[in-house]
Amino acid sequence: MNITIIGTGYVGLVTGACLADLGNHVFCLDVDQAKIELLQQGGIPIYEPGLQEIIERNVDAGRLTFSTDIAASVAHASVQFIAVGTPPDEDGSADLQYVLAAARNIGRYMTDDKVVVDKSTVPVGTADKVAAAINEELATRAATPTFSVVSNPEFLKEGAAVEDFTRPDRIVLGVSSDEKGQSALATLRQLYAPFNRNHERTRVMDVKSAEFTKYAANAMLATRISFMNELANLAEKVGADIELVRQGIGSDPRIGYSFLYAGTGYGGSCFPKDVQALARTAREHGQTLRVLEAVEAVNIDQKHVLVNKVFAKYGHNLVGKTFAVWGLAFKPNTNDMRDAPSRVIISALLRAGARIHAHDPVAEEEARRVLALDLADAPALLQNLQFANKPMQAVQGADALIIATEWKAYRSPNWTALKAAMKTPVIFDGRNLYEPHAMQESGMDYVAIGRGTHA
Ligand SMILES: NC(=O)c1ccc[n+]([C@@H]2O[C@H](COP(=O)([O-])OP(=O)(O)OC[C@H]3O[C@@H](n4cnc5c(N)ncnc54)[C@H](O)[C@@H]3O)[C@@H](O)[C@H]2O)c1
Repeated sequence: MNITIIGTGYVGLVTGACLADLGNHVFCLDVDQAKIELLQQGGIPIYEPGLQEIIERNVDAGRLTFSTDIAASVAHASVQFIAVGTPPDEDGSADLQYVLAAARNIGRYMTDDKVVVDKSTVPVGTADKVAAAINEELATRAATPTFSVVSNPEFLKEGAAVEDFTRPDRIVLGVSSDEKGQSALATLRQLYAPFNRNHERTRVMDVKSAEFTKYAANAMLATRISFMNELANLAEKVGADIELVRQGIGSDPRIGYSFLYAGTGYGGSCFPKDVQALARTAREHGQTLRVLEAVEAVNIDQKHVLVNKVFAKYGHNLVGKTFAVWGLAFKPNTNDMRDAPSRVIISALLRAGARIHAHDPVAEEEARRVLALDLADAPALLQNLQFANKPMQAVQGADALIIATEWKAYRSPNWTALKAAMKTPVIFDGRNLYEPHAMQESGMDYVAIGRGTHA
């Protein structure tokens, strides 16, 4: 099948590469000239395990191309995926300008019938707006081709995106009940057939329910995280260990173990903005999503929990103190720094006068870029921020080590070397990577999240 992917970011690039790998001819469009040039030269703008090999294989086979040519992208395929960003607007609602610009481009250039697939995370009712934008463009040139808009939200996780895309838990297809909608469904069933060999993963529903499903999924996951973070803070006060509590409740199959880790709050490109957008949609309909508003408020506070622990130990003036920070990306196996807790932590400590020696296996470049933006009002502070090539280099001479992201490389450090390298053996662990008892025995001053009996 010929496929066009509009927007070659985390979702678009993974979708395009994986669909090409199944034998489809995929045209990836982006308006970012630099990104397309990098891809055309064999580079890859994001870090995602396994992705580079798939891209190389399919570019070599002539099944995957990258371009900024909008007319060519529309002409290439009857199936047009929209996978552009939907960042939060100032009021928390999803900013649809990129989705609607993509839709207008399709309307402007299409000369044959199309299936337009919304893969971006978009609020309920967006498919209608996409259809209206295409229709407006068709009307300006009295063109007659028809189209159907399908909602096909993406559930991949950064860091495991290829695995998630190729082995999805479910494929949600929201289609209209008319003939065009049913014909679009048949086309997409064919496209996704290779993923359904083992068992049927497709969930077919109406368009609005499909749009809603994506937000409901992210809202549920964010709720679990904020729930555990709030309980972790209480656990510290009452002297309980949230890790033991997690295992105690996770063993209940109605609860399960996933997404119950206490930490420094959720970040990334999806949870913060999707929680906000769903709450905003509710308010537009005269309803307050009280649970979700609390989920967000707890998360905002949680990003400061580690900083407050540092202040509690050293006071608010950190001049003369050096902190090593392990992990910058919002989670392991990605270089994505969007809403990463490390940004809040590093900015706060730099503003309090500290020096930071940071390490991340892949996110250094992106971290340099976003921290410069975060500290745009105080650029001189960036002089106190240094990056290390190795975790052990970062801790050299540090007063304390802060763990912000649970990369595998940080799980079992050489404790003797670590203690020898640090000025004082203090760890603020925002990801509860280590056992408090073992830390105590090895002479570490160990502060974790919600581990009241030991911290
Ligand atoms: N990142 C994730 O893990 C993830 C997971 C599931 C769903 N989503 C959703 O998928 C969508 C895309 O997310 P992302 O993380 O891939 O975003 P991204 O910012 O990485 O990529 C979006 C790309 O779209 C391009 N673009 C913008 N306007 C365009 C246009 N008119 N024509 C062509 N290209 C255009 C941008 O230049 C950018 O490269 C969002 O709605 C997001 O919520 C993301």
